[in-house]
Amino acid sequence: MELRVEGEGADSYEEVMLIYNSALKQIQTKLEILNDEFQHVHNYNPIEHIKARIKTPQSIVNKLKRHGYESTLENMVKYCNDIAGIRIICDFTSDIYRMADMISNQSDIKVLAIKDYIAHPKPSGYKSYHMIVMVPVYLSDRIVDTKVEVQIRTIAMDFWATLEHKIQYKFTGDVPQQIADDLLNCANMVSALDDRMLYLNNEIQEISVEEHHPA
Ligand code: GTP
Ligand code: MG
Repeated sequence: MELRVEGEGADSYEEVMLIYNSALKQIQTKLEILNDEFQHVHNYNPIEHIKARIKTPQSIVNKLKRHGYESTLENMVKYCNDIAGIRIICDFTSDIYRMADMISNQSDIKVLAIKDYIAHPKPSGYKSYHMIVMVPVYLSDRIVDTKVEVQIRTIAMDFWATLEHKIQYKFTGDVPQQIADDLLNCANMVSALDDRMLYLNNEIQEISVEEHHPA
């Protein structure tokens, strides 16, 4: 069952928000379990850290307005995919795809959409892996399928995206060309750094394997 926003027994704003909050908690716990298990089996943490947030009412209203929708509970649930958002920060690009696979493979999570801005970065240079997933939230009298936006990126990608977001905000989206060019240069450096760090990490892994199991 999806959120009830019309007719009898319709959910109130507070109830809807409680459900989104529960969906976030659920995903967060799933991720922590995957991370702990990975640490146990492979002696390695794919997740550096996790940030979770619920979209503010103001920013929900702004988004609906931007897309030409009235601010109703129904439109919010239908058209706003990022009311519940979770950001997974990994050390290496390879961890991102590993996490995405582990999430997709959970039988109670349904993947509704994927945007791979790592394989296909935005013209600005933005890189990140986005998924819209649906998780069941168990209430006392029903199960509610709830959408959560999952963004997965490396520490370096997150550093870039955070600064770029601040700059976009400062210039209300109208960033001077020279700064935009500089940001794109930085995005390329971030990609080069991520590649280099991954390479180094692989080298280190091989050395430590040789030390423990000399040929
Ligand atoms: P909205 O941008 O939220 O309207 O959603 P969308 O349907 O366009 O989805 P998209 O996957 O493009 O973006 C979802 C989220 O990713 C945004 O809300 C931001 O948090 C983040 N994001 C997308 N593009 C950029 C970008 O160019 N720079 C930064 N800093 N963040 C971005
Ligand atoms: Mg967008």
